[in-house]
Amino acid sequence: MNSDFSILRRRFLQAGAAFAAASFLPTGISRAAGVDERRLTIAPGRASLLGKDKPESDVWTYDGVVPGPLLRVRQGQPVRILVENRLDEDTTVHWHGIRLPNDMDGVPGLTQPPIRPGETFTYEFTPPDAGTFWYHPHANSLEQLGRGLAGVLIVDEIDPVAVDRDLLWVLRDWRVTLEGQIASGFGNMMEAGMSGRVGNIVTLNGAVPGDQPVRAGERVRLRLVNVSLARIMGLRFEGHDPLVVAIDGQPCEPHRPEDGRLLLGPAMRIDLMIDMTGVPGGRYRVTDDFYKGLEYELLVLAYSDEAPLRTTFPEPIALPLNPLPEPDLSAPDRHDLTLEGGMMSRMKEAGGMGRGMMQGMGGMMGMGQALWSINGTSMTGDGHADMPPLMSLARGKTHLITMRNLTAWWHPMHLHGFSFRVLTRNGAEAPYSQWADTVLMAPEDTVEVAFVADNPGDWMLHCHVTDHQMAGLMTVLRVANAGQEK
Ligand code: C2O
Ligand code: CU
Ligand code: CU
Repeated sequence: MNSDFSILRRRFLQAGAAFAAASFLPTGISRAAGVDERRLTIAPGRASLLGKDKPESDVWTYDGVVPGPLLRVRQGQPVRILVENRLDEDTTVHWHGIRLPNDMDGVPGLTQPPIRPGETFTYEFTPPDAGTFWYHPHANSLEQLGRGLAGVLIVDEIDPVAVDRDLLWVLRDWRVTLEGQIASGFGNMMEAGMSGRVGNIVTLNGAVPGDQPVRAGERVRLRLVNVSLARIMGLRFEGHDPLVVAIDGQPCEPHRPEDGRLLLGPAMRIDLMIDMTGVPGGRYRVTDDFYKGLEYELLVLAYSDEAPLRTTFPEPIALPLNPLPEPDLSAPDRHDLTLEGGMMSRMKEAGGMGRGMMQGMGGMMGMGQALWSINGTSMTGDGHADMPPLMSLARGKTHLITMRNLTAWWHPMHLHGFSFRVLTRNGAEAPYSQWADTVLMAPEDTVEVAFVADNPGDWMLHCHVTDHQMAGLMTVLRVANAGQEK
């Protein structure tokens, strides 16, 4: 596989000529040996979410910008990130999708003390996997994420991947008032029992999406990251045939998305290879049609008038695989996780309420109010001490988890600390050898995932629709050495 890959790459390099060669060098990598040290300051700031001539919004930021600065690090190189909290409340940073030591995972109370106002916390880890990851708080998540705290962490492959350009689209929505301020009302019960806090404007890399300039004949690696609180996206690329090459940072068999639509739930990432097969001067729409009746145009791929960079494209390339432990499916430990609760839109139960949906609809969520459950238990909020694990998983073993969504809502279910192999969905084998850290479950879906529990500690598993997480769709799995289960 490796030698095939380098042959492909050589061929591609010859075809791509000078233009390509210049852009292959990843930027922002410290060449110095040893630890790659960074700083992040968390503080209030302002952002132009509505566009140039519109009022700015008060937001919360990493280093003064939304999204936070792109952290670009190198696979296998240790990084140290000093995080200073200049908010008036506690926070933490969670490195979503990175396989790291448990005490670097950023869950307050569970894996570290919260970072108090004025304090600095040092995160240190060596990313084993190349790919597209992200970072966000795990304290008062609904509000901290809702006010803007999110950034992308790219781990670059050791050998650069043969593309002409590496593009990043950080997608998210916001709920803003007419004056352009972030709407308050975090933790609305009605929303928490339904689709969550879906916003009213969508930004790309923190701004109103404009044209995306492209050139005919170029091959682009496009990294899509959805950092919304609750919005699910269904993206289509008019006139183009994007190839999915990685899901949640982990390479998969390159494939075209089903029905030409890319489903991207909160916290999910997809890396695409797109060959720019349009004509010079052409304009092609990228649309999101996930919510029926609320379809919109995200942006336009706007071709320059330049002559095509090439007219025939080399064969599609797969990304080099990451060193993930392969689950041994001959005799896995099996576990079931059953998701219940929320409002029932399908009126399956008398009264239209699901189990777990109790009282006081329409108001604000009290602290620790449970509307959802996993195996009948509801962990609420977003990380605190005394979260007893739902189950203990023997370290080093393969675990096969069957997740059943008995609710009428979609849930992007996320496990900290591991990437899991997605085995089946509703009984059918999941194609393209996909790994994920966040699997999007449609209403009534059953999904089987498997992973090797090689990393000890207490790890969160929760829905990444933040309102759902806060309202009980969360639990903790413990990975312990034999004899240390308790
Ligand atoms: Cu992005 Cu607890 O996760
Ligand atoms: Cu995570
Ligand atoms: Cu959910």
